[in-house]
Amino acid sequence: MEKILVTGGAGYIGSHTVVELYNAGYEVVIIDDFSNSDPKILTQIEKITAKRPELVQLDLCNEAAVQAFAADHRDITGIIHFAAFKAVGESVQQPLKYYRNNLFSLVNILNAFNHHIKLVFSSSCTVYGQPTELPVTEAAPVQSAESPYGNTKQISEEILRDSCAVNPLLKVITLRYFNPVGAHSSALIGELPIGVPQNLVPFITQSAIGKRGQITVFGDDYRTPDGSAIRDYIHVVDLAKAHVAALKKLDSEMASNYEIFNIGTGKGSSVLEIIHAFENSTGQKLNYVIGPRREGDVEQVYGDVSKAARELGWKAALGVDEMMRSAWKWEKYLKANPF
Ligand code: WQD
Repeated sequence: MEKILVTGGAGYIGSHTVVELYNAGYEVVIIDDFSNSDPKILTQIEKITAKRPELVQLDLCNEAAVQAFAADHRDITGIIHFAAFKAVGESVQQPLKYYRNNLFSLVNILNAFNHHIKLVFSSSCTVYGQPTELPVTEAAPVQSAESPYGNTKQISEEILRDSCAVNPLLKVITLRYFNPVGAHSSALIGELPIGVPQNLVPFITQSAIGKRGQITVFGDDYRTPDGSAIRDYIHVVDLAKAHVAALKKLDSEMASNYEIFNIGTGKGSSVLEIIHAFENSTGQKLNYVIGPRREGDVEQVYGDVSKAARELGWKAALGVDEMMRSAWKWEKYLKANPF
């Protein structure tokens, strides 16, 4: 049974991916520093899978600690690297915090596991900025990042590309996520935003449950059908399954030892469509108002996901209604079982 290291495995996407790794028959080791996650998530994973991942709490920026971990875990055959700070707004206020954490952690992992290893990297559609052509393909030019967070994703991709170019034993798949939303059907794991949610769907569910006030739609004067901005929202469970598909692909023949895949649904939804989908699928009326555009937002971005279908044999299966229903079920679980 292969043992996979999941860095940031107690986080939102990480925890859902750990569940899918167990479902696919892998063993899991998690490294997490709990800077943006809660240790209780491991108990929740165990309730879902009846398995508790080995956990090592360490700072991936500590090179000696990462080297020691790798020396003690020579049986790890693959890595899924999620660990990174990801708040766009915070990255603008504290760029060095983001460059240090997101880049040093990746370099330390690559240095420590420089023998035969396969790695799946968590990237983001944010590298595309506002694409000139939609749906955006993996061949689209990477635009200059709108935030230090986005820049760390772009630089990380370059670090991986350049490392693979000189190390044929290193095989990497970069997954460029669109907008992950929703929660596991058990409602035992889901997104745990710290403070006021910056992202749309957690703000919607917190507003609906009475934890937040009115929702502000950031702009309805975009050149889109209803004027609000469009994104490609993908269910976090579909996204988690894409990581398992990527791991399996890394065991097979690849055109090169570094490949990039868009992971989305290929469909765009506007902010107002998401709001109405939430209301219709949960029966919860939302209190929202139209406000000004948010600095740094792009007008519309959604992915061409045909390469993942063709080469990973992966396609998103869950629609917006299930995304909304699962997000709401998780919010209600959190109210009854506060972390
Ligand atoms: C979605 C849409 C907002 C909140 C970011 C990161 C990206 C990834 C996902 C990490 C936008 C609108 C939002 C609100 C609103 N993160 N909105 N009212 O900005 O597309 O992507 O999160 O990898 O890298 O950039 O996601 O959920 O913040 O916004 O109208 O209260 O909802 O303007 O159009 P975004 P989001």
